[in-house]
Amino acid sequence: MNKISKLVIDSLEYSNDAKNWFQGRGEQFIRKLGITEGQSILDFGCRIGHYAIPTAIVVGPTGRVFALDKDHYSIDILMKNAKKLGLDNRIIPIKTKGELTIALEDDMIDAVLFYDIIHIIIGTDGTLEPLQMILTEVSRVLKSGGLLSILVDHLKKNNYTKQDIIGEIEKFFTFKDVLKGEIMHWDWLKAGQVENFSFD
Ligand SMILES: C[S@@+](CC[C@H](N)C(=O)[O-])C[C@H]1O[C@@H](n2cnc3c(N)ncnc32)[C@H](O)[C@@H]1O
Repeated sequence: MNKISKLVIDSLEYSNDAKNWFQGRGEQFIRKLGITEGQSILDFGCRIGHYAIPTAIVVGPTGRVFALDKDHYSIDILMKNAKKLGLDNRIIPIKTKGELTIALEDDMIDAVLFYDIIHIIIGTDGTLEPLQMILTEVSRVLKSGGLLSILVDHLKKNNYTKQDIIGEIEKFFTFKDVLKGEIMHWDWLKAGQVENFSFD
């Protein structure tokens, strides 16, 4: 499914920027990450699915997107929209209570999207421990050679710099590259970037 009909797009419960993003730009961004058909992807903190939706298009009918969030209302919105797009059979919702464990088996995921959530995770107790716990879990579920893609922002509310966060991630993963471009940040399309790491 590449071209989504305008009628379906108009019926979605999303911002105009998101509707725009779903008409090709989102998919292009996901492809640039290296995600391909048939893969299993975890979108940790997926909210309403600005990344889960284009990822589900890219992985196709043989792939899976595990869409995890503690905000169950957001997941319901994602799944309602996914149904309209005919993508609900490739998106597996995981509604959590905010626990830092991941209810998935070892070595089963090709890529983890971890976008705009690190400031919330480290904000929970002001230390890097919650982030370390999640990184341990992410390393457990990722296949060897898998990808961790992060979008870091809003760190001003914490005592850490982006370099501190990247340093912590590099204890578990190898820095790969930076992908810059127009991305969805909350409900808006903006110039931004994500950092990518591989799990060796
Ligand atoms: C700012 S939104 C980012 C949404 C999405 N990743 C994106 O970039 O469009 C952060 C999301 O992370 C979720 N979240 C925060 N802490 C979480 C946790 N411990 N477990 C699961 N979800 C969490 C929030 O409920 C929210 O939906």
